[in-house]
Formats: sequence, C-alpha cells, structure tokens
Amino acid sequence: MDLGLKGKVAIVLAASKGIGRACALELAREGASVVIGSRDQEALTRTAREIEAISQGRVLAVPTDVTRAEDIRNIVATTVRELGRLDIVVNNAGGPKPGTFEMLDEEQWVAAFELNLLSTVRLVREVVPHLRKAGEGRIINIVSTSVKQPIDGLVLSNAVRSGVVGLAKTLSVELAEDNITVNNVCPGRILTDRVRQVYRIEERISAGMSEEEALASVARDIPMKRLGDPAEMGAMVTFLASRQAAYITGTTIQVDGGLVRSLL
Ligand SMILES: NC(=O)c1ccc[n+]([C@@H]2O[C@H](COP(=O)([O-])OP(=O)(O)OC[C@H]3O[C@@H](n4cnc5c(N)ncnc54)[C@H](OP(=O)(O)O)[C@@H]3O)[C@@H](O)[C@H]2O)c1
Repeated sequence: MDLGLKGKVAIVLAASKGIGRACALELAREGASVVIGSRDQEALTRTAREIEAISQGRVLAVPTDVTRAEDIRNIVATTVRELGRLDIVVNNAGGPKPGTFEMLDEEQWVAAFELNLLSTVRLVREVVPHLRKAGEGRIINIVSTSVKQPIDGLVLSNAVRSGVVGLAKTLSVELAEDNITVNNVCPGRILTDRVRQVYRIEERISAGMSEEEALASVARDIPMKRLGDPAEMGAMVTFLASRQAAYITGTTIQVDGGLVRSLL
C-alpha cells in the first residue's frame, strides 16, 4: 500500500531512542523527510545517521528540549527554512517521574505539566500555521494507556496525559475544516529504556532472573504475553500520518497487546 508519504515533511520529537526513534524510522522508510529532536545531541546524531541509511528523503537532527518554548520554536522554524514545508508532527516527550501521589511534590507536578502537556500546547501553536499552508496536516500525540486505565504508581502520567487527550479532542474539532487531523496513540508496554526503568528490569536480573524471565514477568498480565516492539508503535503512527487516514481524527488508540480492559 502506498501511504502517500513521499515528499512529506515530518517532525518527530523525543526521537533519539525508543518510540520516537521507531516512529521517525518508519516515516522515513515510507519516503517522508524527517526532522528529529531531543536533548542528547550525540544520541540524536547517531539516530539521524541510522535513519539516513534507510531514507529516501532528507533527515535533520535539531537539538531540542521540549520543555523549552524557544527550542520548540527553533525546530519548527528550522524545518520550514531547510525543507520548505511541514505536514506531520509526532508529539513525543520523555515520561513523567513515576510515583504515587504522596511520593511527589509540587515541583514534580509542575515538571510533568511542562514536559507532557505544555510542550504539546507550544508545539501545536507553532505548527498549525504551517500545516494550514500545506492544505492538510497530521498531529499525532504519543500518550499512554494511562489515559484509558490509570496505572498504579504513575499518578503524573494518569493525571497530566488526560489533559493532552482533552486538548487533542478539542483541536480535532477546531482544525477539522483545515484538513488537519489530531490523534493520540497509547503505548502499552513497549520494550524501551523507559519500560526497563519503570518495571525495574535490571533489578529483576540482579535478583537472579534471566533477561527473558524478567521481560516475561512484566508481560504476564498482557493478553499477548509479550512486550511490544517500538516498530509496532512506528507502524501505527505512520498509518495515522498516511493519506489513507485522512478521515480519522479525534481518536485515542492503544498499541498494547490487549492490555487495556476498557471497552473504548
Ligand atoms: N515504552 C512504553 O511502553 C511506554 C508506555 C506508556 C507511555 N510511554 C511514553 O512514551 C514516551 C516515549 O517513551 P519511550 O518508551 O520511547 O522512552 P525512552 O526510550 O526512555 O525514550 C525517551 C526519549 O525522550 C527523549 N526526551 C526525554 N526528555 C526530553 C525532553 N525534555 N525534550 C526532548 N526529548 C526528551 C529522550 O531523548 P534525550 O535524552 O536525547 O532528550 C528519548 O529520545 C514517554 O513519554 C513515555 O512515558 C511509553
């Protein structure tokens, strides 16, 4: 299936590794030019080279901390200056600090708000004029299954990411006549450094489990009995970015091997 992505330009944030990297790789494989941003310049450059190796379009790496408004303005301005247009934005960031309500202080709440919600507001503000100019656009937010079923011990994700879903639904209505779609994708447990950290994989291995046993223990309550591959997130995001997905907007879809038990 030709996804109509050749000649399109995509920004993928938080893309030096993990889910962001997988989304950028998949979009590039389908012919889009990609601009990746994250804080660690060395890791970002390494990832850009990997993407270049499989890409038919251009690849740019622009150091970006999504909590800094000027960095967001800069990556959008650099994209349009260097590549002449903008069609797709994958709005991703690091995860908020894990913890229960009583473990987290005011500063950590503000940090999560800036990292996972205000970054989205700032990005959308910058990109909408360029998407309108392109005649259509795709905004895809990476959130978490916490927006469908709160996760124990991740109160910041449970609370702050719901704000992204409310914002996205509002935007999907307000931007519909501009042919700009706005959707959210929820990773369940995808095998990345974040999941290794949240589920303490290294501690399980130090306690005597093999790597395979440690990963299987984290996957026990997933109906498919395995963790997801970042490429499986990349595939969903790339489909939502495609021309075939032009009529899909305001949705929140999980990639989770059946983990979420809610009906919707
Ligand atoms: N993996 C899962 O199963 C899962 C499940 C639910 C939700 N999520 C969420 O999905 C998102 C991506 O997770 P992941 O699993 O891919 O994590 P990961 O492998 O730890 O990667 C995180 C990425 O975010 C970047 N990043 C962190 N803080 C940033 C900032 N302030 N500005 C710009 N980039 C930043 C990191 O790059 P630099 O260090 O270079 O900045 C890195 O590229 C996170 O919000 C995570 O909470 C993941």
